Amino acid sequence: MIDRDTINRILDAVKIEEVIGDFVSLRRKGSNWWGLCPFHPDRNPSMAVSPTKNLFKCFSCGKGGNALSFVMEHENMSYPEALRYLAAKYNIEVVDKELTPEEVARNQRYDNLLVVSDFAQKFYQDLLWNNDFGRTVGLSYFRQRGYTDDTIRKFGLGFASHHPDTLIDAARKEGYKEEYLIGATLCVARENGEVSDRFYDRVMFPIHSISGRVIAFGGRTLKKDKNVPKYVNSENSDIYKKSDAVYGIFFAKSAIAKEKKCYLVEGYTDVVSMHQAGITNVVAPCGTALTAGQIRLMKRFSPDVTIIYDNDEAGINASLKNINLLLEEGMNVRVLLLPEGEDPDSFAMAHTGDEIRDFIEKNEEDCISYKCRLLVDSERDPVRKSRAIRDVIATIAYVSDPVLRNLYVDNLSKKYDQKPEMLFKEIATLRRKWREERQRLEQRKEMEVSSGHLRPVYEGQQPPPVSEEYYEPAGDLLIGDVYSSNTPMDVSERELLYYLVKFGCYPIHFVEDMLYGAQKREGVTVADYIRSALSEDELEFENPLYRAIYEEFYSLYGTLDGSLNPEEQQKQVVRFLSAHNNDSLRKTVLGLLLETHTLTVKEYRLSIAPEETILGVTVPKSMVLYKLRITEQACIDITKEIAAAEANGDLECQKALMMQLQMFNQVKNRFAKELNRL
Ligand code: CTP
Ligand code: MN
Repeated sequence: MIDRDTINRILDAVKIEEVIGDFVSLRRKGSNWWGLCPFHPDRNPSMAVSPTKNLFKCFSCGKGGNALSFVMEHENMSYPEALRYLAAKYNIEVVDKELTPEEVARNQRYDNLLVVSDFAQKFYQDLLWNNDFGRTVGLSYFRQRGYTDDTIRKFGLGFASHHPDTLIDAARKEGYKEEYLIGATLCVARENGEVSDRFYDRVMFPIHSISGRVIAFGGRTLKKDKNVPKYVNSENSDIYKKSDAVYGIFFAKSAIAKEKKCYLVEGYTDVVSMHQAGITNVVAPCGTALTAGQIRLMKRFSPDVTIIYDNDEAGINASLKNINLLLEEGMNVRVLLLPEGEDPDSFAMAHTGDEIRDFIEKNEEDCISYKCRLLVDSERDPVRKSRAIRDVIATIAYVSDPVLRNLYVDNLSKKYDQKPEMLFKEIATLRRKWREERQRLEQRKEMEVSSGHLRPVYEGQQPPPVSEEYYEPAGDLLIGDVYSSNTPMDVSERELLYYLVKFGCYPIHFVEDMLYGAQKREGVTVADYIRSALSEDELEFENPLYRAIYEEFYSLYGTLDGSLNPEEQQKQVVRFLSAHNNDSLRKTVLGLLLETHTLTVKEYRLSIAPEETILGVTVPKSMVLYKLRITEQACIDITKEIAAAEANGDLECQKALMMQLQMFNQVKNRFAKELNRL
């Protein structure tokens, strides 16, 4: 972990125009710099970089952020990776947080395993290219399959000879410890104490982590013998968790992000051939059935996926199974059925990139209509047909987005003449059942954890490595699914937050102050005003993310150096929040900073006065609007309760609620009047 001071030093040194200038050529126009936006196909420079605001924004595609988010986005780096990148650029030494001795040991082991894996990859590669046997057997096999030398080099393919001690001997000679070779599951210790290679007599596919380090291997036999397993894969280790690894992700990630789409194929050879054909947004699960962890990794780059599996029974069955899994993780899923008997590998070898792209575009199909076509439409027998429809309904129930779910239900009900209410009911029942199952499972886990049977997260496995390769900074805040909606309440909360983030430390001059120069309010800042106005009515933001930002703001606000001027103070706030290690928090703050105008107080959008001079008008107005919305909501809630009480025939309760409603209505009217006055 990088400590706060170091982060501040990095951010202070960073000049956004220099950071972006390394990737995009920028020209100065006025106080800003302009360049072609790298996040969409841009013909005329539409990305502005502001050195004073430390922000960039594309006026065409809308993408914007600070230097840190630019590097993260452009280079597909994680938060710590991007910070280290910037630190290196500006020669700032990164001081890591003090690690416990166990953490140090774990990191060291992790590094050692990566080192021996790298050694093994180079060793196998060397055998493939420079050893007579490797060349005649391994290299010619790859060439026969149609792989070009460039492709073979790009994926670091290699060869393991038929002696099961070639790697261990070479590693010993170089001084690598057996312990790490076994730890990386490259070698196996036998009962008699002898150590031998896991991989022999195979061509080797190294598996790369998201940042391009070799973490595992898949080895394919060259024998036709059915008794020899076709693939031998690395086992799980401290650097490799099969269920979280995706083959090809390092080579595919920028293409996936750029094309906003990922192609999922079955295996190593499919990935390699597709890349060779020029389709580079392609990945495959690593020697396992597809898992939720793998999907999450893919989703980091794009939520849209198209499954391209072999057109044979096994491939179709696997694609059907994976549709549900992918939907459950919130992906948008399409399926491409290849011509009969083809797999992505053979198809890619027989066609040019353009032909493949064209074929995909014309033939990929939404996953639900794919299932309908495949399972329902071909069915004549009514019993089996209804069973097939049920199967499709179950798949729709996996869709996490309710709007999309409704669309699917609509289509299905029209297509097969089913009552939508019946479909909705069925889906609701399924979702409830699954939810209860999940809860039961979690409760059981909790009980087992508290009674010491299981480790909390990584059951039965090694604790996760501390190294940042796998380490996703969660920050101190745990914010679940970020919900940002466009309800009036959410907009209002966001608006108040906007003032905190942009002007919290600025003095707020009330209209009366400006007119009469009132003394007692001297020094009241926007932040002071918002805090006291909220606590006056014991109000708290409803959106948990906004609440978190609010709390983070005041935790820093309390420690600011009072001798600094407001602008300087605000800069510190912005620096802190816009480089926060919680992803959703940081993104939301950047979004707020990029909004130049307030959201609801529309009349001031047209105002030519600089925003900081009219805070005394805009902030109180936003506050009243917010409170008005809260009372409106309360009135709606009470009205519902009244209806319920009436239905129950509870007269007493009904009466009490009526009085409450009256009171809230009065408050509401008062706020409404005040808003008009402001
Ligand atoms: N696989 C595996 N172990 C096996 C069989 C398959 O790990 N015994 C995984 C591999 O990742 C493989 C993928 O499943 O790439 C698809 O399997 P298959 O289609 O049988 O192999 P291909 O890689 O397509 O090999 P080829 O094209 O040479 O038949
Ligand atoms: Mn295959």
